[in-house]
Amino acid sequence: MLAVLSAIVLVESLLLFVLLRNRRRRKQTLQSLRETLALLEQRLGSRTESWRQATDTLEQTEQRHRITTALLNETKEYLNSIINSMPSIMIGVTPSGHITHWNAAAELATGIREKQALGFRLHEIYPDLPVSPGMIDEAIANSEPSTRENVKIEHLHSQRYVDITVYPLHSLELTGAVIRVDDVTLRQKLDSMMLQNEKLKSLGELAAGMAHEINNPLAAILQSLQNVQRRLNPDQPGNQAAARALGVDMRQLHNYLEARDINRFLSGMESAGHRAAEIVRHMLEFSRSSSRQLEPTSLNAIAHASVDFIHNAIELSMPALHARLIIEEDYDPALPAVPASGVELQQVLVNLLKNAAQAIQEARREMPLIRVSTRLVPPFAEIRVEDNGIGMNISTSRQIFDPFFTTKAVGQGTGLGLSISHFIISQRHHGRIEASSTPGEGTTFILSIPLQQASYTASA
Ligand SMILES: Nc1ncnc2c1ncn2[C@@H]1O[C@H](COP(=O)(O)OP(=O)(O)OP(=O)(O)O)[C@@H](O)[C@H]1O
Ligand SMILES: [Mg+2]
Repeated sequence: MLAVLSAIVLVESLLLFVLLRNRRRRKQTLQSLRETLALLEQRLGSRTESWRQATDTLEQTEQRHRITTALLNETKEYLNSIINSMPSIMIGVTPSGHITHWNAAAELATGIREKQALGFRLHEIYPDLPVSPGMIDEAIANSEPSTRENVKIEHLHSQRYVDITVYPLHSLELTGAVIRVDDVTLRQKLDSMMLQNEKLKSLGELAAGMAHEINNPLAAILQSLQNVQRRLNPDQPGNQAAARALGVDMRQLHNYLEARDINRFLSGMESAGHRAAEIVRHMLEFSRSSSRQLEPTSLNAIAHASVDFIHNAIELSMPALHARLIIEEDYDPALPAVPASGVELQQVLVNLLKNAAQAIQEARREMPLIRVSTRLVPPFAEIRVEDNGIGMNISTSRQIFDPFFTTKAVGQGTGLGLSISHFIISQRHHGRIEASSTPGEGTTFILSIPLQQASYTASA
């Protein structure tokens, strides 16, 4: 029994021992678990912190990227609007000539939208632009702009002059060129006007030398003409006596002269002679720094007087044309008197009308027509002379104001009519003379005379 009891005590002690030992172990396990958990939490905390920091940095980077992109777009738009607001045509191309940029001026000049142009080859889209692939290659290869000045191009059926520069473009990402095209038609016109005036000046110097030589025989011709007219006058007693002594009846002689239009030819010679004298006088004035008073002048009256004059002149020189020619007159009654020299303007109009008649004669029109009209186009008064003559091609149109330029047969034209007219309108009256013409259809000359002059004195 005692042994049993001791065994029970032993077992119990053992159980207690085991229990105690397990509890300690569990405690230890628990402790190490707690420590592991704390370590894990600590690690997780620091990971979360670094993850938060990374997220913050990422957000900041993204925000900065967004701002940079917005700024970049803004700058791009700003640069685009600068390029688009430039009056020059700017076309960006790759070395192979494919279009990468097409500004507003290019759209305006060609009528081709940017979207239709981008990516296409330049010579397909804008074949009129004289930029060869060689010019682009040269600019890129030499890293230097290549330029062509005063290049003539056809644009919407009119002729324009342009300066073309091809700038090489070298950047990290792309190579190509920028083509810049500037319309210099106005500069070209001003240059040619200055050249025109220079030519007229030298013409004036030449005229000054010739004028006296021409004036003297001209005065003799006119004097003799007057004598002839006087001596053919049937009412003069002296003429009657001389005729009677020769057995000639003065009345009959007069009738003969009338019937054969001889008196009219003589009047024509006289007025042409006076006009020649007047032209010589004007040519003389080219070289002189003369000043002439401009007076309030009715352009309608001057135009009508010029039509009258040319009617008579055509009757004498082109009788066949005179029979069929219609000269329409359409004058604006509201046109005020403008400061002008009536004599000089008449000279211009007679030149224009004579040219018109000659152009019609050459065209052999069924219904030859000249139309003279005036109208008010503030700040100018405008006179138009239109004809349905042979017209002019572009090459002739460009030279018509050059002294001595003529397409007429030798002896038929001096080529001075329009250059003198140009001088009178632009220098004396500070106005404009312009021509537009269609070959085979006809020509229109437009004179624009300022309604006001800074000073009433026009000087050469
Ligand atoms: N109305 C027109 N129609 C067609 N061609 C014209 C006309 N007016 C002028 N021209 C051309 O311009 C040229 C120059 O004209 P311009 O009046 O200066 O000289 P011209 O008529 O030849 O000679 P001139 O006037 O001395 O007799 C003419 O030869 C002609 O070719
Ligand atoms: Mg002429």
